[in-house]
Amino acid sequence: MAVKIPTMSALIVFLALLSLSHSCYGELTPGHYKDTCKDLEKIVFGIVQREFTKNATLAPLLIRLYFHDCFSNGCDASLLLDGPSSERKARPNLSVGGYELIDAVKTELEQKCAGLVSCADIIALVTRDLVFLASGFKAKYEIPMGRFDSFVSLSSTVDLPGPTMSVSQTADMFDKRNLSVDDMVLLLGGHTIGVTHCSFFKDRLYNFQNTNKPDPSMDPKLAQELRGKCPDKSTFDGTVNLDQDFFSSNVVDGSFYRQIQSSRGILQIDQQIATDEKTSEIVRGLAKGNGDEFFVRFGQAMARLGSVRVKDKNNGEIRKSCRSCNTPLMCATS
Ligand code: HEM
Repeated sequence: MAVKIPTMSALIVFLALLSLSHSCYGELTPGHYKDTCKDLEKIVFGIVQREFTKNATLAPLLIRLYFHDCFSNGCDASLLLDGPSSERKARPNLSVGGYELIDAVKTELEQKCAGLVSCADIIALVTRDLVFLASGFKAKYEIPMGRFDSFVSLSSTVDLPGPTMSVSQTADMFDKRNLSVDDMVLLLGGHTIGVTHCSFFKDRLYNFQNTNKPDPSMDPKLAQELRGKCPDKSTFDGTVNLDQDFFSSNVVDGSFYRQIQSSRGILQIDQQIATDEKTSEIVRGLAKGNGDEFFVRFGQAMARLGSVRVKDKNNGEIRKSCRSCNTPLMCATS
């Protein structure tokens, strides 16, 4: 619900400052709900497994939703708030989905552990379980909990990297969130699953950096194939798999790194990390071996992403519905 009366603008600024203030980030602990909602993980996994069986695209949707929520203003479920100018309305978030799964989990938890489990923790848990399922039970990680939900969600504050940014620019954005270059390379491994619209990489197929030629860092055979799927003048914005490994484009595994080493990355940033001096060694390490290292390290990086700028009880709440604040007047979404 939007704040409508003019005097509320001061409140919005106050809430925004409160939620951005570095000094009040919350603490996360493993087993945070063990005394208050002891069956939490079992309840969540049951719902996630049931829904994943019906719709496997929930895995890429939630992995991306988790990244977008955590990266912009912290892991505080600000992305879930409905509102005329809330984060959901920002361009990079228009193709984010999976909100109904979070709602389904929240509804069940409000019956079994009312008012106890934050929406931000639900996002982290649901994503963790989907990574486990989509990796064929291989990527299993602990996710500390205790996040609170924010009161502020403004599309104007959405701050996400774009696919044509350089590795250094992207690394700076991760660094501002206390995530290292290693974390960045591991988390970009999230592109082992899911799809991208043609519009995010079409420039690489036809007129790369105004050269009237395709991006020379893309395998010419792949570029030709992709031109068939993303015709130059077409107004229809199709999609292609981010991981071009035919056998594992819908699976969370380390194949993404082998693909980018073979010049088969789709987004420009994905391809760049294979050759940039800051990241190429890390990519080489992850591309080697049977992938066990990736499963462990990807999970650890996902957990670290989950601790970015988390809120505590002083600047957040446990929402009853993930789409709105408990007291709508306290909510800044426009
Ligand atoms: C660092 C810079 C990143 C950039 C520039 C970027 C950009 C993109 C773009 C342009 C898409 C396609 C969106 C669309 O077509 O609607 C996408 C999809 C996706 N991204 Fe990223 N991304 C980044 C990092 C990440 C990270 C860190 C993760 C996960 C931890 C992630 C997970 C995903 C997933 C799973 C999809 C597929 C979504 C689906 O199929 O619905 N991305 N990303």
